[in-house]
Amino acid sequence: FQARALNHSANSPIVNGYITCKLHCYATVFGLLLQRNYRWLILSSPLNTMRIGIFDSGIGGLVIARAIVKRLPQYDYVYLGDTQRVPYGNRSQETIYKFTREAVDYLFRTQNCALIIVACNTASTVALRRLQHEYLPKHFPKRRILGVIRPTAEAVTKYAGRRIGILATATTVASKAYIREIKKQKLKAVHVYQQAAPLLVPLLEQNAQRWLKPIASEYIRPLLRHKIDTLVLGCTHYPLVKKLIRATVGSKIKVLAQDEIIPAKLADYLLRHTEIAGVLSRRRTRQLLVTDVTYTVRKLARRWFGVSAQLKLVRYGHEV
Ligand code: DGL
Repeated sequence: FQARALNHSANSPIVNGYITCKLHCYATVFGLLLQRNYRWLILSSPLNTMRIGIFDSGIGGLVIARAIVKRLPQYDYVYLGDTQRVPYGNRSQETIYKFTREAVDYLFRTQNCALIIVACNTASTVALRRLQHEYLPKHFPKRRILGVIRPTAEAVTKYAGRRIGILATATTVASKAYIREIKKQKLKAVHVYQQAAPLLVPLLEQNAQRWLKPIASEYIRPLLRHKIDTLVLGCTHYPLVKKLIRATVGSKIKVLAQDEIIPAKLADYLLRHTEIAGVLSRRRTRQLLVTDVTYTVRKLARRWFGVSAQLKLVRYGHEV
């Protein structure tokens, strides 16, 4: 407001001062009204122009995006899947951090996101804390990046399992992030067993249905030997095969899938963080951005988001 007033009245200090002062008054009244929860004002505010970004290394996050959009349809969303460089799960920590930082930077700088959900467990495990503590304060202190590990660990508490199996990528397993987060929930006598499933993501990205069942069973078998009562699908891609996984483990084992966890957590976050909810636009648009338009991307985008969702190929990736 102030910058615009100064530009328009550069030749007249009196007019300039008057306009600036008047706009200050408007801004103050506006802020007060916001604080008093005038929802209609939030809806029509010129300030709410920003989108929610959802990032994943590939197509897996589309499952999460679909569930989020279903739960909170009023907002505008932009999905970014790095389908050209997937999988992240077998890469070094430095590379995963670099790729994730490039993605969030692209979403913030060019897609006007106020909030980004890093739907990728591997990226959340490796990059989230560093992005929150180093990148955000330096580049976008008022915006937010959320991950998926903690909300999933909280869901484990809710279901009160005692023998928890984690199925995830090699990087997520090696980081022990789930073990740490579940232990933080202070569950008594909880045992956590992990299993890396490095082949599942490439198979899902390629839509290689024939191999999914035998390979998923092979990965799940060691967890069953530990007599788990809860199985956490600790990778964004795995909800794509949750029916198959549920059939493999049987009905006595509770399977926690992130598309059933993250939307409610986000809704709760936005209720508690009105400074973010207040700047989000509500035109119900959905844009899907990918770094490679593969067959599977096209199929899932059309099936889940319809023809109205714009699927676009993008290029990004520079040092920030
Ligand atoms: N989407 C990632 C996750 O949730 C895994 C895929 C990958 O390896 O890139 O861990």
